[in-house]
Amino acid sequence: MQKLKGNKVVLVGNGAVGSSYAFSMLNQGVCDEFVIIDLNEAKAIGDAMDLNHGVVYAPNPMRIKYGTYADCSDADLIVICAGAAQKPGETRLDLVGKNMKIFKSIVDEIMATGFDGIFLIATNPVDVLTYAVQKFSGLPEGRVIGSGTILDTARFRFLLSQEFEVAADSVHAYIIGEHGDSELAVWSSANVAGMKVTDLLKDNKEKMEEIFVNTRDAAYEIIKAKGATYYGVAMGLTRISKAILGNENSVLTVSAKLNGEYGHDDVYIGVPTLINRNGISKVFETPLSAEEQEKFDKSVATLKAIQEPFFK
Ligand code: 2OP
Repeated sequence: MQKLKGNKVVLVGNGAVGSSYAFSMLNQGVCDEFVIIDLNEAKAIGDAMDLNHGVVYAPNPMRIKYGTYADCSDADLIVICAGAAQKPGETRLDLVGKNMKIFKSIVDEIMATGFDGIFLIATNPVDVLTYAVQKFSGLPEGRVIGSGTILDTARFRFLLSQEFEVAADSVHAYIIGEHGDSELAVWSSANVAGMKVTDLLKDNKEKMEEIFVNTRDAAYEIIKAKGATYYGVAMGLTRISKAILGNENSVLTVSAKLNGEYGHDDVYIGVPTLINRNGISKVFETPLSAEEQEKFDKSVATLKAIQEPFFK
């Protein structure tokens, strides 16, 4: 699929994450048509109006409206943010039962319209739900993408940037694995200007652990403080959308289907991938140390244990 015409994005689920994504897309001028679908029609209509009043100050014109599933038939990208979110004390994996049911009905409705574009999934547990969307939709694996560890990688790069006083986009480092408690930092290749981050940190294990834990557990902190996280993930979703619609060939850590890479298959998990107008065009096998590979294997096992009862 090489569709370069038109940039119609449909958002399904206009809660805190969805509406922040809409605002971020408008601010960055990523598409020319943006449709909001939500069970709460009044809120979606209100948000569409509110966003339209910002169009004059946006970098590009964007047609924004409240819509229905009928709008999905010719969409290029459908972003799903619908479903229950974590409450304080809940893990992402605790949400699987509730959100799996919601997703089955959403994807069935969308596919009934003849949709043949790209899905981007943000709802948690994102890796398992992305796997589910591929199964429910039957779309090619590369055209079903989960936000994966895009946000965790951003948190990690931010914390390292604070440590070294360099811009976050000059810190080259990945968080891979489950978007959740079993994720891991790829310390072995993390670098700033080609200098190993572990050397820059003088191999200080305590400091490394502190940075990693603050990355991994950031969502718990934010949820405790304000009930939900949304701006960071919205920026991550916008970044992925831009890479897709702009046919960028950018390397981003998203949830991708493994087919033998890293020694695994039959799982969607956060890894560095090549993103362009075809979706995920390639999964990169970034080199891992033995310890990192072991942690990655455990993360795969965690996800498989959660997804298997639903897809026996
Ligand atoms: C986050 O990491 C809760 O998954 C959401 O912010």
